[in-house]
Amino acid sequence: MRKPIIAGNWKMYKTLPESVAYVHELAPRLAPFTGVERVICPTYIALAGVADALRGTELKVGAQSVHWEAQGAFTSQISPAMLQGLVEYVIIGHSECRAYLGETDETVNKKVKAALAYALKPIVAVGESLQQNEAGQTASVIGGQIRAALEGVDAANMANIVLAYEPIWAIGTGKNASGAVAQSVIGGTIRATLIDLYGDAVAQTVRIQYGGSVKPENMHEYMSQPDIDGALVGGASLKTNDFAALIEAAAKAKGV
Ligand code: 13P
Repeated sequence: MRKPIIAGNWKMYKTLPESVAYVHELAPRLAPFTGVERVICPTYIALAGVADALRGTELKVGAQSVHWEAQGAFTSQISPAMLQGLVEYVIIGHSECRAYLGETDETVNKKVKAALAYALKPIVAVGESLQQNEAGQTASVIGGQIRAALEGVDAANMANIVLAYEPIWAIGTGKNASGAVAQSVIGGTIRATLIDLYGDAVAQTVRIQYGGSVKPENMHEYMSQPDIDGALVGGASLKTNDFAALIEAAAKAKGV
């Protein structure tokens, strides 16, 4: 069975002291839910402090992006070598990075391969715009993003990759995709693409999250879908009560 994985993407929220105080409060509250993997992705500046605060706990740390080079003249960037040992996961290809920071399918693929080379586990985000959704292009856009992100990634590495379906029109809008719609994209397009690329046995082991206005109230709807293995959560991950409720709801829905 695929172990559910809930990741909180804090985006550009919380100072270092706020980040450390948050995880000190949250980590012990999650201790009973051993069947659910949980990850917090703070800003770069808070990573070291949060990683220190969480050592020895089951709350894991992720970064929000990574560069593909080990080092170099890339002002403002952070390399996979710098993240190694500090975080377990790294979000790659978030739609905000694609929209505002020049992320492309090609840079996503370079980052995925670089992360894997440094033993970091990518959480690869894909998603269609409202316009693409309304034009009936969801399957082709998502299928294309998945194929591009995974180009040159072999089957053995798929155990270390999490995929996240985040329809852009549902991010931070309060307009979430229904559980059935998310299931149809995640099962019908994403897992189907993985089957095509890697065969059924490998595809069935890959964890796929939904993201976009996930809240404690709608978590059960997503987590009760057969192909949805977790969530990538923005706004609701900023409050300890909400994040704890998400983990509890995931544990309940999956019976773990
Ligand atoms: P919200 O949960 O705030 O809609 O954000 C989703 C997201 O972008 C997570 O990466």
